[in-house]
Amino acid sequence: MCLMYIFGALVIAATAFSQDMTTLTTKNNSVQDLFVAVGSFVQIPCIDGEQKGVEWKFNNSMLFSSPVLSLKNISLQDQGIYTCHRPNGDPIQRVFLHLGYSPPSPDVHCWSPSYPKRAVCSWTLNPNPTLPTHYIATYRSHSDPLSSAHQCQRWGQEERQCVLQELKIFESEPTLFNITAVNALGSATRIWPFIFEDIVKPDPPVNVTVMVMPGKKLSVQWGPPPSWPDPVNFPLKYTVKFHWGKPDTARTLGPYESNNMVLRGLVAGRTYHIQISAKDFLDNGQGSDWSSPIGATIPSN
Ligand SMILES: *[C@@H]1O[C@H](CO)[C@@H](O)[C@H](O)[C@H]1NC(C)=O
Ligand SMILES: *[C@@H]1O[C@H](CO)[C@@H](O)[C@H](O)[C@H]1NC(C)=O
Ligand SMILES: *[C@@H]1O[C@H](CO)[C@@H](O)[C@H](O)[C@H]1NC(C)=O
Ligand SMILES: *[C@@H]1O[C@H](CO)[C@@H](O)[C@H](O)[C@H]1NC(C)=O
Repeated sequence: MCLMYIFGALVIAATAFSQDMTTLTTKNNSVQDLFVAVGSFVQIPCIDGEQKGVEWKFNNSMLFSSPVLSLKNISLQDQGIYTCHRPNGDPIQRVFLHLGYSPPSPDVHCWSPSYPKRAVCSWTLNPNPTLPTHYIATYRSHSDPLSSAHQCQRWGQEERQCVLQELKIFESEPTLFNITAVNALGSATRIWPFIFEDIVKPDPPVNVTVMVMPGKKLSVQWGPPPSWPDPVNFPLKYTVKFHWGKPDTARTLGPYESNNMVLRGLVAGRTYHIQISAKDFLDNGQGSDWSSPIGATIPSN
């Protein structure tokens, strides 16, 4: 538990107003933001010289008849606006108390759906610090310690995701991803070392189509994941999974180097569900997630 005693620090910079104009005008309209760790002991003195009859209110309801606001073992429920008032009710000071935690070390996950062009890292914070938090994400090659760190640029809509570009392939030393979370109460860093080839994971194949063919056969076709930049020089191979009835009876076939195959020896009247997964041809990293199942029924006649 930490003791936080705030002295004159809370005086609002009322620069635009002269001294003889009552400072109330400014303080009425401005709220001082204060960031405090859950569990702290907080004391905030009301900044008025007058000590008698000063009151503190929390979210507009009466809290203390004292010039010093004193809160022990502060919790998330104590977040809100604290105001101190003169005996006649005039507000003197407003403080918005923001409660939360210093960031924990981020949990990181990096993968490459676009080998060898780029990789993506995403991260989460557990527990959630509940305060506005920003991130500094960089990476550098371990085998080249003199090289400066690269900024990891934000990727897509996600705030906690960024893209690593121009990574070298077949490096013997890992690349170091450095993610630092920063908020008003502190900061925390995680260094995540990885070998580019180990984190390859394509996106699932697209445009899966299944056509019924004479002789109780199904012709299955698909396209490579569009995020995979160069299927010619960095080919993919594919596994086909199909089931009827219960999904846990699924069988897998492959790998296939082409973008189509024929399922044979099927049974009339059954509906088959087909999914495809892509993997780097040289077996780097992991296979993709399965594409969504496509169903097709073998005619009974
Ligand atoms: C502080 O509050 C928390 C949650 O309300 C409680 O679990 C904890 O025991 C308290 N600690 C002290 C020292 O009072
Ligand atoms: C106090 O006000 C803040 C900000 O409007 C709000 O988030 C909080 O839930 C309120 N707390 C209580 C106990 O009314
Ligand atoms: C990680 O990044 C932070 C923030 O930029 C920096 O202060 C720290 O020195 C870096 N750590 C390493 C090991 O590169
Ligand atoms: C998938 O289908 C869309 C729309 O028909 C087409 O534009 C796209 O080129 C196809 N992608 C692949 C990889 O076959």
